[in-house]
Amino acid sequence: MVVYSPGRANLIGEHTDYNDGYVLPFAIKRYVKIEIQPSNVFKVYSEQAKRGIQFNKLEKTNSWADYVIGMVVKLMERGYEVRPFDMRIDSELPMGAGLSSSAALEVGAGYAIARMMGYDIPRVELAEIAHACEVEFVGVRCGIMDQYTVALAREGHAMFLDTLTKEYKYVPLRLDGVKIFLIDSGVKHELGNSEYNKRRYECERALILMNKKSFREVSLEDVEKIDDDVLKRRARHVVTENERVLKTLSALETDNFQLVGKLLYESHYSLRDNFEVSCSEVDFIISYLETQPSVYGARIVGAGFGGSVIVLAESEFPEVFGHLKEKYWQRFGIELKMMEVYPSEGVFAHE
Ligand code: GLA
Repeated sequence: MVVYSPGRANLIGEHTDYNDGYVLPFAIKRYVKIEIQPSNVFKVYSEQAKRGIQFNKLEKTNSWADYVIGMVVKLMERGYEVRPFDMRIDSELPMGAGLSSSAALEVGAGYAIARMMGYDIPRVELAEIAHACEVEFVGVRCGIMDQYTVALAREGHAMFLDTLTKEYKYVPLRLDGVKIFLIDSGVKHELGNSEYNKRRYECERALILMNKKSFREVSLEDVEKIDDDVLKRRARHVVTENERVLKTLSALETDNFQLVGKLLYESHYSLRDNFEVSCSEVDFIISYLETQPSVYGARIVGAGFGGSVIVLAESEFPEVFGHLKEKYWQRFGIELKMMEVYPSEGVFAHE
């Protein structure tokens, strides 16, 4: 049996999932592939790291293996029995490209272990276990978007998720004549993790200043009263980004991709100016795309500080990309990579 666990992109709704907000992600047809069989010791091998790790103690190793070890720990904490296994991981997902290779590994490992043990764990629970693994074991205070998407996504659809109530619904992406591309900027700023945690903290402080318990109770009027420029801009991003997600939902109902594209650009400007999670390389890409009539819209995707750009465009976009790639190389000496993406189903297995 091989488990296929997809990466995720996010159409819109960035840095809202730890602020009780809305997100609209989808899984992509690029996978972490996982094979598993029972063994007498715990072993995990990564084709990319060209390295195997054997573990007897369920403790952190500060390596990629922690995503697997953490899943064993969290499954056991929930009362699932986990017997030793031999696991082999092979990934098509670039690390650090903002496509959530870590959530794909967590959810995929959990799914593979559950199958081996004969458990049929509900997908929402699997997402919750994977999220607990990331936050409590690996130690990254992320929101729930990535794990939910990898576990629950549906082919041909985006997933509208309310991270406050955890209710979700599937939204068809009828991409007739419209395509979605991901451009990997090739940069990953080391500050990423600490800046991510700082943004969380700033959002918490903004809430306190507004005397609110949840961003769901916050209006733009409340935001404009904040008497600290940085915190005001952080809060403004969250509130306006939630509005943009809702507007995107209605635009998708009528397949109005021009409008969706405009909302993507607006999301990018807010991530750049209010939330300050973009970087010069990504802004260079966006500025170029803005001048191209075949592009509906684009924005930075995921946590930010580098990573990927999501582009909504007409099918002749690859030609435009060729020019961009040249200019980017001249400016930064980095080779841009691009792929077309299709909304995939969540984690699944092939016998
Ligand atoms: C990372 C986190 C997600 C989310 C995004 C930003 O991908 O893992 O939970 O917060 O950043 O939207």
